[in-house]
Amino acid sequence: MKKNVVFAVLFVIIFSMTAISSEGAVGVKVTWLGHAAFKIEGAGKIIYVDPYITNNPMAAIKVDDIDKADYIFITHGHGDHIGDSVAISKKTGAVVLANGELSEWLKTQGVEKVQTMYFGGGSNFDFGHVKMVYALHGSTISGSVNGGVAAGFVFNIGGVKIYHAGDTGLTKEMELLADEKIDIALLPVGGHFTMDLKDAVRAIEFIKPVKVIPMHYDTFPPIKADVRQLVELVGKKAEIVILNPGESM
Ligand code: NI
Ligand code: MN
Repeated sequence: MKKNVVFAVLFVIIFSMTAISSEGAVGVKVTWLGHAAFKIEGAGKIIYVDPYITNNPMAAIKVDDIDKADYIFITHGHGDHIGDSVAISKKTGAVVLANGELSEWLKTQGVEKVQTMYFGGGSNFDFGHVKMVYALHGSTISGSVNGGVAAGFVFNIGGVKIYHAGDTGLTKEMELLADEKIDIALLPVGGHFTMDLKDAVRAIEFIKPVKVIPMHYDTFPPIKADVRQLVELVGKKAEIVILNPGESM
């Protein structure tokens, strides 16, 4: 009888340990800040992508609320993606990652910690691995400054793969991303400047992600979209996770 109790206790302990460790493996938190701005937390690091906050009518936070950041990734030179990167880096000491042209511009803005990335095999970081991938879009910085080419990023944080598409139209290049086995795809769906809902469905068929968080919609009148339609349009091909600005998954 006593033996059984010991086994039961051991079982509960081992079971709860497994539950904790499996949650640890998944332990990446993705928060939508509105538009294409995301905060990704994992491996003890805080990463911002396209932190457009101050002039973002959908922004869930203020720059004042940010006191810790380790990395900022910028997909391209448009104002709604560079956003508050300069201010956040100066405030937190976060390293800013961008293409070569954008990197040069960031230096002219007084950002000290700039690291250049380009399309290729990607780079290792203390939180994992990041690969810059193709986006079909422009990248001019305000004032007609050359911002290089637009991109997206594939993050691998503890085995969890997150694809931030940046701004992009539908492109066959997305088929290559199926090999990456993306867990969470952050896809622009608002149309006008990027894919619309219909194109996003095709993109999801190409990319084959497990989950999709739609972004880059409703911020301004030209990119209004009823994202709830995506759930039906995509069906069982992927799980559509519709977040409100400030919500996480
Ligand atoms: Ni853009
Ligand atoms: Mn944009």
